[in-house]
Amino acid sequence: MADTLDPDGSTTFEAEIDALLEVERFEPSEEFRRAASTTDESVYEEAERDWQGYWARRARELHWHEPFQTVLDDANPPFYRWFTDGRINVSYNCVDRHVEAGDGERVAYHWVGEEGESRTITYADLHRDVQRFANVLKGLGVGTGDVVGIFLPMIPEVVVAMLACARIGATHNVVFGGFAPSSVAERMEVSDAKVLVTVDGARRKGRTAPVKAAVDEVIDRAPSVQHVLVVRNAGVDCPMAQGRDLFYDEVAGTVEAECPAEPLDPETPLFILYSSGSTAKPKGILHTSGGYLTGVAATTKDVFDLKPETDVYWCTADVGWVTGHSYIVYGPLANGATSVMFEGAPDYPHKGIWWELVERFGVTIFYTAPTAIRACIKWGPEHPAKHDLSSLRLLGSVGEPINPKAWVWYYKVIGGERCPVVDTWWQTETGAVMISPLPGVTAAKPGSATRPIPGISAKLVDPDTGQEVLEGEGLLAIDRPWPSMLRTLYQDDERYVSTYWSRFGPRTYVAGDGARRDADGYFTIIGRIDDVINVSGHRLSTAEVESAIVAHDEVAEAAVVPEPHDLTGQAIVAFVTLTGQRQGDDALAVELREFVGARIGKLARPGRVVFTDDLPKTRSGKIMRRLLRDLAEGRELGDVTTLRDPSVVDDLRARVAAQKASS
Ligand code: WT7
Repeated sequence: MADTLDPDGSTTFEAEIDALLEVERFEPSEEFRRAASTTDESVYEEAERDWQGYWARRARELHWHEPFQTVLDDANPPFYRWFTDGRINVSYNCVDRHVEAGDGERVAYHWVGEEGESRTITYADLHRDVQRFANVLKGLGVGTGDVVGIFLPMIPEVVVAMLACARIGATHNVVFGGFAPSSVAERMEVSDAKVLVTVDGARRKGRTAPVKAAVDEVIDRAPSVQHVLVVRNAGVDCPMAQGRDLFYDEVAGTVEAECPAEPLDPETPLFILYSSGSTAKPKGILHTSGGYLTGVAATTKDVFDLKPETDVYWCTADVGWVTGHSYIVYGPLANGATSVMFEGAPDYPHKGIWWELVERFGVTIFYTAPTAIRACIKWGPEHPAKHDLSSLRLLGSVGEPINPKAWVWYYKVIGGERCPVVDTWWQTETGAVMISPLPGVTAAKPGSATRPIPGISAKLVDPDTGQEVLEGEGLLAIDRPWPSMLRTLYQDDERYVSTYWSRFGPRTYVAGDGARRDADGYFTIIGRIDDVINVSGHRLSTAEVESAIVAHDEVAEAAVVPEPHDLTGQAIVAFVTLTGQRQGDDALAVELREFVGARIGKLARPGRVVFTDDLPKTRSGKIMRRLLRDLAEGRELGDVTTLRDPSVVDDLRARVAAQKASS
């Protein structure tokens, strides 16, 4: 502690962070609890007593054109179906319902563009735009069951296009705007998309990419695509193929204004989302309507303690990922929430732009990813310090394990030690949050997603014996169905069964994550089971080692992978970026090794530390450990096309080679 004190004896920022790292449990503050919708522990038990009844109740919070009698059809596991005899429309629930309740003038989105321009979209605006868009799709021959590809940047039209599909029973297949056109074509082809909605061009950090022209080069590979519908966005000229390509605004003027929402079978496919897995072939994760909406609506309300009349909610994800589908579009809209939607990057035009927007819109609920938090740590607390963040009352985290240092930094610097942090574990497959604190009820422990939310049952299973692990490590499994579960992998029932339901039978969903459960029943997600390193027969989690490394004051980010080792089977290689005060030299490498040794144990010490300026990341910000693994093991590198910045790899290759040569 002594060396973290200023010469004048005042406690430094680092010492305050260190002190918070010593706190084991963070109870919701009295201030938060006073206003929270749910503060009573009994919600867990009540849901457990009759979990199907619980989900039926949550489903009935939505509008049903025809009520359901059947809650769950589990006659053919793992092909579960929910609320089958009711009739529902997702778009009606997200839009019409609020307009009819007199809330049409409520803001659905405060949209902010790259260059600071803004648009205010009310529920009445959505109502008007979605109907028109739906009629345009109908005019192009799209009907129930047809797939519509959506390749759009973070502009309001992406939400409108999704809701338009939902309105008429079409299935959307959104491809993240950062993907290469060839991935778009591939995904259109494998999903038999009939129409592709895209833009003339998209802006990113001051530049404009000619999206339509790039799509043109590859779209022939997807012969199912009969029309390309172009939303004018960036004012870029683009070639238009006669008969195939249409400008949205031109067609929109020719269709009817009204398009009533169709009462649909609740198992109507709502969307397919291809997940970036570790295998070559993407998995088309399929979600349907009634159960999915039930899950996202209930969790948005509970996990974020959302009060639509007063909250301003902001999820910083991109709609191209499931987080955007569930927690920018469907969950918030089903609740009638007011959201911020931001087109840009967190460091453009400056590194404080997020906090500027929090202040400007009075954001109360903020949901982001640990990788973003760690970037903010690297940039320094001076950026958020320039803005008034006192409107915030709840913070959320998603996408990867959040290391305790990032958790407490988020809690302190962004949340002012006032806001509960909800660490939400879920997956594209689960559709909605599964394990997370209820912010007014559950005490948080930094790094732990805590408990399954009411209505969800999770457990750990020993991979060798198949026995439940009550305390200790195991495979994370969900041992009964839940409404927002994936229904299958698109056109691949077999792979659906073998990927998720084969290991312990058709009633136990295997999530693919390893986790730890403590004496309080709290789950700490260790990471994907393929990210486990085995050193001398001891299993070590890459996430755990990384968390230890980034706890060092000099470290910004770390990624840990195994490399083969003669003595121990595998050894740990740590790729490390620094905050910039000190050089990445041998002395620091030794220090980091000992630092990890002291935190976890000698076994966890990295055999090698490679200092680098950047880590290879996907466009969604996930560190590509697979590439680092290939590098560490001296293998030919796999696919690098999904990297945000492919040049990072060349630099790393040189560093690894230089280090190997000198050792
Ligand atoms: C995988 C799912 C959930 C939407 C975004 C990612 C990891 C997710 C957490 C968390 C630890 C997490 C898991 C999971 N993950 N949330 N709070 N703590 N790990 O969706 O791309 O389908 O990835 O992300 O490993 O299996 P996805």
